[in-house]
Amino acid sequence: MERKFPVVSEKLSRFFHGGDYNPDQWPPDVWDEDMHLMKAANVNVATVGVFSWASLQPAPDRFEFGWLDTIMDKLAENDIYAVLATPSAAHPAWLSREHPEVLRTDASGRRRRHGNRVNFCPNSSAYREACARMARELAERYKEHPALVLWHVSNEYSGWCYCEECAIAFRNWLQQKYGTLEELNARWWTPFWSHTYTGWAQVEPPYEHGEQAIPALKVDFARFANESLLACFLNEAEVLREVTPDVPITTNMMSTCYTTDYHKWAPHVDVVSWDCYPTVGGDIAWTGFCHDLMRDLKPGRPFLLMEQTPSSQNWQAVNALKRPGQMRLWSYMAVAHGADSVMYFQWRRGRGGCEKLHGAVVEHAGHQDTRVFREVSVLGEELNRLEDHVLGAGVESRIALIFDWENWWTLRNTSGPIQDKKYAETVFKHYRALWQRNIPVAVVGTEVDPWDYDVVIAPMLYMVRKSWAERVEKFVDQGGRFVTTYLSGWVDETDLAYLGGYPGPLRQVTGVWVEEIDALFEDRQNRVIMKQSFGPCRGEYRCERLCDLMHAESATVLATYGEEFYAGWPAVTENAFGQGSAYYIGTDPEVEFLVHFYRTICADCGVFPMVETPDGVEVRRRSQVDRNFLFLLNHNDDVCAVQLPEGSYRDMLTGADVSERISLWEYDVRILEEL
Ligand code: GLA
Ligand code: ZN
Repeated sequence: MERKFPVVSEKLSRFFHGGDYNPDQWPPDVWDEDMHLMKAANVNVATVGVFSWASLQPAPDRFEFGWLDTIMDKLAENDIYAVLATPSAAHPAWLSREHPEVLRTDASGRRRRHGNRVNFCPNSSAYREACARMARELAERYKEHPALVLWHVSNEYSGWCYCEECAIAFRNWLQQKYGTLEELNARWWTPFWSHTYTGWAQVEPPYEHGEQAIPALKVDFARFANESLLACFLNEAEVLREVTPDVPITTNMMSTCYTTDYHKWAPHVDVVSWDCYPTVGGDIAWTGFCHDLMRDLKPGRPFLLMEQTPSSQNWQAVNALKRPGQMRLWSYMAVAHGADSVMYFQWRRGRGGCEKLHGAVVEHAGHQDTRVFREVSVLGEELNRLEDHVLGAGVESRIALIFDWENWWTLRNTSGPIQDKKYAETVFKHYRALWQRNIPVAVVGTEVDPWDYDVVIAPMLYMVRKSWAERVEKFVDQGGRFVTTYLSGWVDETDLAYLGGYPGPLRQVTGVWVEEIDALFEDRQNRVIMKQSFGPCRGEYRCERLCDLMHAESATVLATYGEEFYAGWPAVTENAFGQGSAYYIGTDPEVEFLVHFYRTICADCGVFPMVETPDGVEVRRRSQVDRNFLFLLNHNDDVCAVQLPEGSYRDMLTGADVSERISLWEYDVRILEEL
């Protein structure tokens, strides 16, 4: 069989199954027990060293690798591989004492005290030097170690620092970007409220008690801060690449983390990995959205589920247990969306510290005779049966949904027309309409090639680069389908409004001119009334939040508003443009509208659900070069039946041929090869 994508590491061409392991919190007599339990749990990887800086380097010039040597050897003896972390997410107290400037400064300009984690200034040279030194020590020491399979740089990079060192770096960054102050003043529109800068030193980060009135400054600061964190990652990754060029590198990401524009990070990691913590009882489609956003940082490629809890979290308001079967279901959901691993936080519950009540494979009882342990162990055994087949398989999607961090930052820093823009929620609403019909969606940034897809959907793309709009125009002209919505095409990348009517550079392709936008109070609604039916889109739908008052220029009006002084004005339009069409949805409609609307658009380009299923039953496909695997996932807590299209199927876990009618128990999963 030819795999669609290479495995993460030839050393371990299996589903990674394991998780965060903190042996340095435990006396050595527990370590052998850990090895024994890991074998019993069918674990094949352990993520070690994530928070071990103080135990690896207890003093500036004292390194203590003895314990880690022992752990690495024990892992190797037991055929368990190490995802070896650099410990830079939590720096030791001595570093803060010696170089107080490594500590992060908050938005009020107050330097934080030592403690917690991710408490470093990303622009501190003392921090960067200490990290690079540690990375080199680790790499040199373990470069030949048989257990080493993957580097895990730091942990969940995030956040902003407002210290003096960052302020200086920010000014340099701006100088690089704009060249002259005149240019910066022009791009930031600083004559507003007399904010014109006459010297670089006057530019400050957007302190919470400082400059908040120049959105372009805030967006640039977000860009700069993202690049500062990325530079920290690269600072370590470069050392690791130099010493161990053949060991892949990742860092664990957090899906819709506001401060990290992962599209900028993606090219620098060898494999994307992320930490997935759904709320029990929450909308599981959101988890699907997050998996797809993470996977498509490298479009269609497998990623790693680096962390999930085997049972409960400790940091949510209410930390419900995953019900029996739910951990397995959500693990396979990750696999179905492209994960080549199932990994847990954490292997063993600590006795103290603020995560001692966080779920773990080994709980405080300390043995394997628990529900959670059994579920983990059975899952590990199942994954072994799949890996020869599914590992490396890709996920194909013909629909692209744009999620753009820079747009998110711009929207959040814009005052009006409604304060809470709900950007991520809005993009997700479109995703959900497709998810619930089992239509795979690629969640991507504006860097991707639109031509790789049949349909490109860009909800609320307030900040639009001219160059991107030109590509979209060409794409539609050549036969593509493009969908956008209210609050799109208002400003450029430095938050300067497009003149001549919204949606700015998308006006031509959408064929509409938006004259005004109305914001609706929470208890108000309007109606979208279909003028003509558009597939199953007919009759009327509720809409809320925002309503564009727009003119159809070259576009055809599909629906109009039912209320207010703009009743009868266009609400939804279609513009035939060259060989393709562009659609504009001028308001926030109920999800039912989107379900019907996308049903029509998908059908038009020959995209149909893989399988029609009852609500809450999800179907996904992973494909090798010449083999396809269907994942049937029952998110419901009762029995559901699924009728598959005519064909032959084999159950990958039992090896049995199965009929087209399948019964799924509560939280059941079936993995079928399409023969
Ligand atoms: C994150 C971190 C872990 C741990 C878990 C708890 O994902 O990376 O170290 O704190 O959260 O859920
Ligand atoms: Zn700083």
